[in-house]
Amino acid sequence: MGIQKFLAPEFVFGPGARKLCGRYLRNLGAGRVLVVSDSGVAGSGWTDEAVLSLEAEGLSAVRFQGVRVNPRMNQVEEGTRLYRDSGCDSVLAVGGGSPIDCAKAIGVMSANPGSIADYEGIDRIPRPGPPLVCIPTTAGSAAEVSQFAIIGDEGRRIKMAIVSRVLVPDVALIDPETTVTLDPFQTAAGGIDALTHAVEAYVSNVSSPITDIHAVEAIRVVEAWLPRCIAEPKNLEARTEMLRASLEAGLAFSNAILGLAHALSHAVGGMFDSSHGEANGILLPEVVRFNYPASASKYDLVARIFGVEPQASPKAADLLADRLAAFAASIGITARLGDQGISRADLPALAERAARDPCALTNPREASIRDIEDIYERCI
Ligand SMILES: [Fe+2]
Repeated sequence: MGIQKFLAPEFVFGPGARKLCGRYLRNLGAGRVLVVSDSGVAGSGWTDEAVLSLEAEGLSAVRFQGVRVNPRMNQVEEGTRLYRDSGCDSVLAVGGGSPIDCAKAIGVMSANPGSIADYEGIDRIPRPGPPLVCIPTTAGSAAEVSQFAIIGDEGRRIKMAIVSRVLVPDVALIDPETTVTLDPFQTAAGGIDALTHAVEAYVSNVSSPITDIHAVEAIRVVEAWLPRCIAEPKNLEARTEMLRASLEAGLAFSNAILGLAHALSHAVGGMFDSSHGEANGILLPEVVRFNYPASASKYDLVARIFGVEPQASPKAADLLADRLAAFAASIGITARLGDQGISRADLPALAERAARDPCALTNPREASIRDIEDIYERCI
């Protein structure tokens, strides 16, 4: 075994954790906090509650709640301007992956020159941003613990993957009470995203025994609890388990990185502005079918978790891929890429973007442009 590193922020996990944001930010030396969220989160009251927690500790808050799904560069610029013009010294993200990624990018741009596009790729950010605390309100992205930020570049129609240790938040306050109001689609899309993180991290060619522990546990928990979250949305035990699955998948993928399903879904999201989790749910089975020979014993363990006994069958790849597709369908992910407006004519442009995504580098099986087009084609 070679040398390994494992990067994770301090986190507080459990019901009520969100209420500690004022105390944590004060301890980090904050005075004026940019609170980044979106209209849905603000509408559910989580942003107001966070601002009250800041004010109770004598901190002032400046709200930036215009973040949209799949945040783009212009929102990062708008948020950075507000941060500077308002004299902020720290950032609090309240929301799903989109507000958290946007908050990370605002922090980077408050401390570095140029454009966020200058820092696309791996380990290219020279200076760390200000203190960042995250309160996730979805179970899936795990942006609150990861060293990733995904930002859309509208001009190039791509999603940039920005990967750096300085993107790991200072503290994550992970509170399952924030997830009981998620609707069935948000629950399913987030849950499948977490499953995709876990499976891709598990078979990644930079995985390690330390990341594997978290990846396998996340797969077990998603299989056992995601259907319960759909059937019983107010079940706090089920919500707690799924948020733990998201966290463990995040600890795994932040360190072992991802694979082809994410490379392909980033390309889809960049060109078609579609749901990230849903795209992963569509792509994962076909990526597993392609990847299986490169990591058969690990995929066989995933198969057993899903109740499939591979028994060295020549059809083992198909058994697992079909089971994963059936699992996605059972929680309501039945769309195909064609439903997201994608046709065969789009495949060369999508494949070219996917091949350049950093997540393709850690996929266990090398894929040619032709291989990637074939995977997309099976998902239309
Ligand atoms: Fe993801």
